[in-house]
Amino acid sequence: MKVLLVGSGAREHALAWKLRQSPLVNALVLWPGSPAMGNLGEKLDLGLDAKLSDVARLAKNQGVDMVVVGPEQPLADGFADDCRELKLPCFGPVKAAALLESSKAFAKDVMAAAGIPTAAYQTVLGEEACRKTAESFLQKTGGVVIKASGLASGKGVFVCTKQEHIDEAIERLYRSGMAKAAETVVLEEILIGRECSFFVFLGEGPLTPLGFAVDHKRLKDGDQGPNTGGMGCYTPVPWLPSDADQIVIKTVVEPLEAELARRGITYTGCLYVGLMWNEKTGPSVVEFNVRLGDPEAEVLAVHDQRDWAELIAAKVGLRALPESFVAAASRNQGASVAVVLASPCYPFGEGETRRFLVPADGFLNKDPSQCAFGAAVREERGQMFTGKGRILTFVARADDFVKARKKVYRAIESMADTWEGVQYRRDIGQQLS
Ligand code: AMP
Ligand code: GLY
Repeated sequence: MKVLLVGSGAREHALAWKLRQSPLVNALVLWPGSPAMGNLGEKLDLGLDAKLSDVARLAKNQGVDMVVVGPEQPLADGFADDCRELKLPCFGPVKAAALLESSKAFAKDVMAAAGIPTAAYQTVLGEEACRKTAESFLQKTGGVVIKASGLASGKGVFVCTKQEHIDEAIERLYRSGMAKAAETVVLEEILIGRECSFFVFLGEGPLTPLGFAVDHKRLKDGDQGPNTGGMGCYTPVPWLPSDADQIVIKTVVEPLEAELARRGITYTGCLYVGLMWNEKTGPSVVEFNVRLGDPEAEVLAVHDQRDWAELIAAKVGLRALPESFVAAASRNQGASVAVVLASPCYPFGEGETRRFLVPADGFLNKDPSQCAFGAAVREERGQMFTGKGRILTFVARADDFVKARKKVYRAIESMADTWEGVQYRRDIGQQLS
């Protein structure tokens, strides 16, 4: 098969690496791709500003058999619909389903109709209604979560337990470039519990769970510092009940698919269910994303020893899933830990940032239980340098979390211990009980 992979981050690097391990994939086309992906594939000859419909058409003309989409934005913009028009199988949902991520108001409406457990909520339009309703939530329940309904790169959610928090949220939502995402705002009760995420591949045939992961959003150890896109994660999640996947499938995924079907929408792609797990009441959905997470994709790609090209080809209807795959991820023994390295200026991007040379063998990933995936990495005259933002994700798989942690931090030291000021958390995968 020839596969087009869309995206350029560490998530897509992990996907490219994973797909290239499959005997099914003999060519990978990347758009836009990244220097870190090296010779895993050929770049599609179209710039970043190309129209998505042109990307789909060129891929089709070049004999691509299947498209895999990493990030949410092209899905929200209808890339899967463009592919569908050309009869090009696409792993990633159509725009009507991608609304689950790009419109929190839509996601809430679907959850309410499907009876999926989630926080009680209200949707409001405009600053005044937002302030009034948020204040009344705060008075009645002692807290409120204020969320821009549209895509806001994880920056549009404010958990408020005092009046000052509401004032700050409103300032950010309506006066700092988020106005479009905040045209509609969702206000909801604060959920109590522990966060984790569930990943499942949907499409043709029975659904295929990938499992649970826990992300570490805060920049610094002990969950201190500002929120980020994710500084590391681990899988599996030992503090969940042993039947957690069945609970989420029955209470969330199946009702969601049924409600979408009732609305005439079929979901093909990875569904990412963000959950708050309460010891007494079980899971509530915090959010849906219509893609793999980053860095969750990296940790899952290393942990899950199945052939994802087989899985994905089955979901888009190109092949039947072999019997051995239906047995689920239970044969993925052990534990995996992913740790993100970020540039000194992350997450605010302010100030100068140093560049560091990535060793030439940095991304060869010859040992499938120990990998490095690149995000903000640039190529200059045949050498690779780190850029600004999240730069690399290191992942290790081992028999247990103690060994996986040792292995991942050893790999980091051997590549990056001279990179002054580079930030990474030392406590990923430590709070497991
Ligand atoms: P979201 O983008 O909706 O996933 O929200 C971002 C983060 O805000 C989540 O990962 C949670 O940590 C937090 N959050 C969102 N909604 C709630 C809620 N109803 N109760 C408590 N925390 C929440
Ligand atoms: N790591 C969180 C996300 O991908 O949304």
